[in-house]
Amino acid sequence: VRGKADPGLWEALLEYGLDTVADGIHVVDAQGHTVLYNSATARMEGLRPEEVVGKHLLEVFPSLNDETSTLLTVLRTGKPILERQQTYASFKGRKITTVNSSVPLTFKGRVVGAMEIVRDITRVVEMSERIVDLQSRLAPRGPGRERSPGSWATYSLEDIVTVNPAMKRLKSVTLRAARSDAPVIVYGETGTGKELFAHSLHNSGPRMGAPFVAQNCSAIPATLLESILFGTVKGSFTGAQDRRGLFELADGGTLFLDEINSMPLDLQPKILRVLQDGNVRRVGDLDVRPVNVRVIASTNLDPMEAVRKKSLREDLYYRIAVISLRIPPLRERRDDIPSLAGHFVAKYNKSHEFQVRGVRPGVLDLFQRYPWPGNVRELEHAIEGAMSIMDGEFIEIHDLPPPLLVFSMKPAGAMDNPKKPLHESLRELERGILQETLRRCQGNISRAARALGVPRQTLQSKIKRLGM
Ligand SMILES: Nc1ncnc2c1ncn2[C@@H]1O[C@H](COP(=O)(O)OP(=O)(O)O)[C@@H](O)[C@H]1O
Ligand SMILES: [Mg+2]
Repeated sequence: VRGKADPGLWEALLEYGLDTVADGIHVVDAQGHTVLYNSATARMEGLRPEEVVGKHLLEVFPSLNDETSTLLTVLRTGKPILERQQTYASFKGRKITTVNSSVPLTFKGRVVGAMEIVRDITRVVEMSERIVDLQSRLAPRGPGRERSPGSWATYSLEDIVTVNPAMKRLKSVTLRAARSDAPVIVYGETGTGKELFAHSLHNSGPRMGAPFVAQNCSAIPATLLESILFGTVKGSFTGAQDRRGLFELADGGTLFLDEINSMPLDLQPKILRVLQDGNVRRVGDLDVRPVNVRVIASTNLDPMEAVRKKSLREDLYYRIAVISLRIPPLRERRDDIPSLAGHFVAKYNKSHEFQVRGVRPGVLDLFQRYPWPGNVRELEHAIEGAMSIMDGEFIEIHDLPPPLLVFSMKPAGAMDNPKKPLHESLRELERGILQETLRRCQGNISRAARALGVPRQTLQSKIKRLGM
């Protein structure tokens, strides 16, 4: 809705306003001559607006034609083209890739021009090409390929440390599931060991010598993820090359689609199609190619929840959840904490040549109470971090990272009773912090004051005031 304003305001908006937005805006008249070309577009395309405005599009972009230019196509058809990926060489020969949306501009039922909104994804495309190249170098290939440390599935079932009955059952289910080719979904909170299970599935079955290719599906735009997964053929969009995608790379082996609920919804049916007929179609290809790939998918929330939240299509869910493994969070299997802690102490003693003998009982108590939002990964990093800064033989509470330290200082109950006045909760919290610091400093008030960053007198008066 446009309000009433001085006509000069609209002029100023065109002049300055459109130049401050980050997306490129490019407007052509009904004949295809540029009438507006903002600075974002100029920056992306490496041109100056003076070189473009007033000229016909094909004069400035000689690598485009009536068919491949979205602006000219929109002028011709009068229909918008949304989220189209384009790679082209600019007038000066710089190769850029953009995601464009072009809409016709109509006035009294007549197409009077077209506008394009341009987002530069050149860097992301370069990255996606690097991803496929790297994966293809890491994946083993050819007959007689050996499992080398560079091949992808590095973990197997023996690497999953557990004494918990539910986890042990999960390991034996994994062993049996490894014999089949059915798709699997592995779900659990971050850091519970989903990747470990995906590797183990691959390495416990007949595909163990074949490639294991993993791709995280989050944070990659739909158009790119599609060419990463399915590959491209020359000419599918300007600048596209004949390239294999990850499905073809994983042929004979396993493709691990990590965080599949972050995969754009319009791409999900294409995964479903491969699972149903075993063929992939490279982007822009007329033909399909058969692939023999086992798909393992992961989600960090209950997949039914993902379906309800519309981040996972229901039909795809039923197809990939033929076998479904739920990895419980660490707080649901606290019996695993001591053995995992011991395992990680041994692991870092070996790799970093430390001589740590273990963790203090007080630390284990703390571990048993702490909620572990980052699960096993958080435990592993807490231990690695402590081992890197400690000087004793046993890990102490004060060697632990801040979330655990803060949790250890939280006096039981202070946070749980909302009816308590704030100043009382704060007193308790302060008392807990002082007690813990004094304990660490063996009762030496000067050292504790330094550790807390307060003058000695302040600490002394606080101790008195808190009745410690
Ligand atoms: N049961 C376990 N035994 C040994 N290490 C584990 C176990 N579970 C997780 N880890 C370790 O914790 C880290 C996180 O595991 P990962 O499989 O990447 O979690 P997720 O994929 O669920 O986020 C990895 O370094 C992994 O080796
Ligand atoms: Mg993971």
